[in-house]
Amino acid sequence: MQDDRLMMTGYRDEDRESDLSLRPKNLREYIGQDAVKDNLSIYIKAALKRRDALDHILLYGPPGLGKTTLATIVAAEMGQNIRVTSGPAIDRPGDLAAILTNLNAGDILFIDEIHRLSRAVEEVLYPAMEDFALDIMIGKGPTARSMRLDLPHFTLVGATTRAGQLSAPLRDRFGMLFRLELYTPEELAQIVKRSSSILGMPAEEEGIIEIARRSRGTPRIANRMLKRVRDYAQVRADGKITREVANEGLNLLEVDGLGLDKVDRNVLSTMIDKFSGGPVGLDTLAASTGEDALTIEDVYEPFLLQLGFIQRTPRGRVVTRAAYEHLGRMMPATDLETNEPQVSFFDEDK
Ligand code: ADE
Repeated sequence: MQDDRLMMTGYRDEDRESDLSLRPKNLREYIGQDAVKDNLSIYIKAALKRRDALDHILLYGPPGLGKTTLATIVAAEMGQNIRVTSGPAIDRPGDLAAILTNLNAGDILFIDEIHRLSRAVEEVLYPAMEDFALDIMIGKGPTARSMRLDLPHFTLVGATTRAGQLSAPLRDRFGMLFRLELYTPEELAQIVKRSSSILGMPAEEEGIIEIARRSRGTPRIANRMLKRVRDYAQVRADGKITREVANEGLNLLEVDGLGLDKVDRNVLSTMIDKFSGGPVGLDTLAASTGEDALTIEDVYEPFLLQLGFIQRTPRGRVVTRAAYEHLGRMMPATDLETNEPQVSFFDEDK
């Protein structure tokens, strides 16, 4: 079942139709992630000059930041075809062998959620990445022998939410590792502006900025919000996206002025109400909020960290003064160095 929450950064069917037109097609059109773009453009030019395949690339970072888009752009810039698949879709080693043997020299193989490949499938990938070879077993038992097939020189682009989820041998076989960062509100405004113009939606600068500010650093959410605000504008206003229209349309989605949704607010309130603002460990927090620990870590926490609403300390997560203020809550007196509530000498007797 699809999750209705706007914040869920997973792919949905409604993203698909627009993605085809909204997705940038080359590095020049791609907004943000400047460091990644600069590096990629050098390596792409060098590979083209040498008439060589590009080294394998690992893209990691929170969902919705454009990992698939970047992989498609790499293929386009190299003038090669892309084959798209994902970790969970490759069930058995034979599935991967079939994909690899169907590639042509220079092709880009994109594996999304690459951390979800099984061990057995990963082992097929090692010689493929390193030596462009496929080791297959013929026969069974004592007479079994292994045969090595040559594969074309392809480029693997892997995507994962966290590089740390990948096994070390797999991670070591990538020649380039790029971390995608959450987008700044200015970059998101450029993206929303570009999307509204592609979709032929009249939008005022202030309406665009409102959407950008509330899309939690994520283009996929920004584009989704833009479409919901367009619906609102067409039904309740004259079709134009102004600041008020964006504001009202987004309030309807229960996204607050900074882009926090119900789950973000629940995470912060739980930390405040049940753990005196922290420090609290991830698993404890997950159990108390009823959210999945990995989802908190991959989807919610990066944005709360970017806003400066939580901090990570060796002893767990801590809510900051900015978060208390945003939620309209009183922060208990704290020791400024450790961010811990001041404990009175006599508290233990109570
Ligand atoms: N649409 C989604 N992500 C984008 C990006 N990074 N640049 C331009 N358009 C986008």
